[in-house]
Amino acid sequence: MPCGSNQYFDKKNNQSGDLTNPKNSQADNDKWFYSEEVKEHFFSPKNLLSPEDEKHYQASGYGIVGSPACGDLMKVWIKVDPIEDKITEFKWRTFGCASAISSTSILSVMVTKNGGMELDEAMKITPQDIVDKLGGLPNHKIHCSVLGDQALRAAVNDYYKKTNQESRIKEEAAKVVCSCLNITDKEIEKAVLEGKTTYEEVQRITKCGTDCGNCKPQITNLIDMYIKKYYGDEN
Ligand code: FES
Repeated sequence: MPCGSNQYFDKKNNQSGDLTNPKNSQADNDKWFYSEEVKEHFFSPKNLLSPEDEKHYQASGYGIVGSPACGDLMKVWIKVDPIEDKITEFKWRTFGCASAISSTSILSVMVTKNGGMELDEAMKITPQDIVDKLGGLPNHKIHCSVLGDQALRAAVNDYYKKTNQESRIKEEAAKVVCSCLNITDKEIEKAVLEGKTTYEEVQRITKCGTDCGNCKPQITNLIDMYIKKYYGDEN
């Protein structure tokens, strides 16, 4: 199921549906996997920035991740109190799906409540923190929750650049894990976030390990690590 849709998943009946379809009754909605919190933030997203307001918005930092071609573009604007080193405003806009909208909406509330979160704390927020606040997301939609989180990091890094605080910038460099095919750990991570949880599944979409095969043990470990990171120990 692509990120750029409003499809949702009926866990009990193993069916998908459309979160925006008004024909879905409350009785139907009760059995959908999405929590009340997800639905609340999807139907009433907080801190959205309209294209009109964007023209005049004075952001301290701006971050953009994803690709419009995949329908999962995410933009985040933040305002920072330089004395307190806190995020006082978090605005965003996306073309993503219900999970991306709900995740970013709740993230915007998390970082601005009680006068704003300190930048160092905001940089430590994980996709799992967001999913917990939402009361859960289907495993195959976890990658949508990463968009807001990544765009926030990009916006904070942008703020550091603009304020000559380069030493505080945190950017994770990609590492090549399959040298024959030049495949990085980021591509393995992305595959796991898209719901591929076995070596064979990851190999099918990334082609890792299809030459000498020496990278298989390292890639298998990476897959296990990302599964624990994004889906918890019980998987
Ligand atoms: S290192 Fe991955 S196939 Fe050779």
